[in-house]
Amino acid sequence: MTLRIGRLYHPAHVSSPQNAPAAIVLAAGQGTRMRSRIPKVLHPLAGRPMVDHVLAALAGAGVTRPVVVIGHGAEAVAAALGDRATTVLQDPQRGTADAVRVSLDGLDATADRVLVTMGDVPMQPPELYTALLAALDEGAAAIALVSARVDDPTGYGRVVRNAAGHATAIVEEADADEATRAIGEVNAGTYAFDAAWLRGAIGRVQASASGEYYLTDLVALAVGDGRAVAVVVAADPDDTMGINDRVALSVAEERMRRRINERHMRNGVTIVDPTSTRIDATVEIGQDARIEPGTTLQGVTVIAQDAVIGPNAHVVDSRIGPRTQVWASVVEAATVADDVQIGPYAHLRPGAEVGARCRIGNFAEIKKSRLGAGTQQHHFSYIGDAEIGDNVNIGAGSVTANFDGTAKHRTIVGSDVKLGVDTMMVAPVTIGEGATTGAGAVVTRDVAPGKTVVGMPARPIELRRHRTRPAEAGEPSAGEAPVPSGTDPNT
Ligand code: UD1
Ligand code: MG
Repeated sequence: MTLRIGRLYHPAHVSSPQNAPAAIVLAAGQGTRMRSRIPKVLHPLAGRPMVDHVLAALAGAGVTRPVVVIGHGAEAVAAALGDRATTVLQDPQRGTADAVRVSLDGLDATADRVLVTMGDVPMQPPELYTALLAALDEGAAAIALVSARVDDPTGYGRVVRNAAGHATAIVEEADADEATRAIGEVNAGTYAFDAAWLRGAIGRVQASASGEYYLTDLVALAVGDGRAVAVVVAADPDDTMGINDRVALSVAEERMRRRINERHMRNGVTIVDPTSTRIDATVEIGQDARIEPGTTLQGVTVIAQDAVIGPNAHVVDSRIGPRTQVWASVVEAATVADDVQIGPYAHLRPGAEVGARCRIGNFAEIKKSRLGAGTQQHHFSYIGDAEIGDNVNIGAGSVTANFDGTAKHRTIVGSDVKLGVDTMMVAPVTIGEGATTGAGAVVTRDVAPGKTVVGMPARPIELRRHRTRPAEAGEPSAGEAPVPSGTDPNT
């Protein structure tokens, strides 16, 4: 039901090239029904503020810098918009027609068509705006508006049509009699206007009984002026849903999640259980990746081809490389290379950079640290503010003591180092390439490459690694020598 959009809104006859349309997004209202201290249009939907979805769809229809009317929570909304929009302040907020009136001065004066939509109608695809502009042009209309036929029209303005089927008015629910309330065709709140007509007509809107100026009154005014009003009926009424309370927000969230999942599946991503998989609108996923149940992918996350994410993975603002697996783990603002195995129960924190073929699991935590290729960190350990080389074995319980109570310090571990179980690296400290630490070593001073250190504080020892003659009685074998204890990467 949801993915027919492109086909059904196909703008069949876009007429001769015109000026780019201007656009207004209404977002000044208080959003009382949200019962929130956060402005309504900033409530997140699929990981982005509601209004971002509107801006993205407008951009898809060729409108890059709309005018956004702000009022309630103006500062926060303006900050969230940044330079993606021109903002116009509406204070006091006296209704949707008043909002359009105050924004007209901020519009590109050369635009001869104006799109108007609302910050709380976030599901409309770009094709709907394109179809609306085409309908305006074709009918030489003063207004083209989007309507939807819905089972439950409660809360929406109703589209009133005459015997010939032409729209003659929109009646707000508060002002509707019983017969009008029974109409199932509702106003979506998105319009294209003949700019010149709009500039002349907006001042003629009269205040309603509640003292509000309704943008919807323009329909009857256009008809009174003998101008055509075109209606584009949304093929999918879900597209036109307005969000006025948190119940509607959750419904929209569910629909948007479903659409996002379907988009990825159609692009060649396997999602084993879409109902338990939550993927933000901002996430990119490569071909033949597999998303296992219970997985959440958020923010600016990129999952490469053939990666397997989940079950029960939570990945935020991170890049996951090809063929990498992330199983039951949390990955935040981290970069993971190819063929890595993460989890179960690993936590990659901001600034973790994990090299190719690493294995990270079982209560391993990494923060602001780089691990070279082939390094293994299997069992409950913490690596923070560190530079770890290639093929390092990080023994169970190994920890970088990176914080001295005042400042953070760095730990550097060269390639091919073996950290015995429970190695404490008291930063700042460097362990040279190929060095080894014994079980429980507390490394407070730099270790030279190839050396072995044991104890607390850790001191170098010599090991007899290779025996060339048979052991004599009483002589410890290599296995009995003070061999530093690492963890076997294969256990
Ligand atoms: C509006 C329409 C209704 C339509 C519905 C679709 C009017 C009068 N009614 O009703 O026909 O069916 O949307 O969702 O237009 N806003 C301002 N300034 C104001 C008032 C509102 O900028 O002074 C903004 C709000 O922030 C919001 C949008 O306009 O983004 C719509 O306001 P809202 O109060 O949600 O109108 P609805 O009751 O939903
Ligand atoms: Mg609304």
